Amino acid sequence: MSRNRIWTVSAKGGVGKSTLCVNLARAIAAMGQRVLLVDLDTTCRTLDMLLGVENTAIYDIADVLRGRVSAEKAAVRLPQSENMFLLCGTGDLDLTFSAACLDGALALAEREMGITVTLIDTHAPDSNAAAVAATVTDTLVPTTPDTLSLRAAEACGLFLQTVHAPQVRLVVNRFRWEDPRQPSLRAMIDSAGIRLMGVIPDDPEMAAAQEKGVLAKEAADDNTIMAFRNIALRFCGEVAPLFSGCRGIDRKKYIG
Ligand SMILES: Nc1ncnc2c1ncn2[C@@H]1O[C@H](COP(=O)(O)OP(=O)(O)O)[C@@H](O)[C@H]1O
Ligand SMILES: [Mg+2]
Repeated sequence: MSRNRIWTVSAKGGVGKSTLCVNLARAIAAMGQRVLLVDLDTTCRTLDMLLGVENTAIYDIADVLRGRVSAEKAAVRLPQSENMFLLCGTGDLDLTFSAACLDGALALAEREMGITVTLIDTHAPDSNAAAVAATVTDTLVPTTPDTLSLRAAEACGLFLQTVHAPQVRLVVNRFRWEDPRQPSLRAMIDSAGIRLMGVIPDDPEMAAAQEKGVLAKEAADDNTIMAFRNIALRFCGEVAPLFSGCRGIDRKKYIG
């Protein structure tokens, strides 16, 4: 299977799963891919709000998975790019689905809508996790630099092994370049026990803009935009060294 479906997941809330999902989607769309975002966080749908379309959606992912409506009809075209679409999250806490059901719905959507990359956002792994794991090609586990989040990333990584999630990679989010209290990148990778895919800076401007449904492209620090772009490049199989294109960063200090 070619690499075309990314899952953002962690055992802890608030570490940046949804932030990573929408901004990575934007970066991948900017590289010419046609992108579908799927909000499978059944505890609290988020992506419609982060993307500023919370009053637009008529149908949600539960309608699609239950066969009530086609994904093409349910998908919302996103204002950020003509290449980005969203299947909105549901308030249905009881939503359960098999791998065949999810894979079938996504494959149909991808075919009918010409989608080349699909990104799925979820909450902590639950009874649906095995179905998602069987459906995706890449799994990204974001963590913030604090010890609790790192422990959650480690627990999530171990769980993901049990459901055979593919290509599990760590994304360190809210990294503060000059904070001496923060563990080193190497220490974070060691404690999570997951190979690193990328590092996103702590960016209060991006967080403030997100509150208004504005993505990193319009509001973030340039280094934040480069960080998402570097992950997108790596996902697309291109060489993108850590922090490449980031200004004012002494790479050796963090990687060495
Ligand atoms: N790199 C970052 N810099 C600053 N704030 C961030 C960053 N990433 C996420 N946040 C903020 O942290 C909060 C939780 O992010 P979110 O993506 O919703 O986490 P999750 O989906 O894991 O629950 C949000 O308020 C978001 O704006
Ligand atoms: Mg979320």
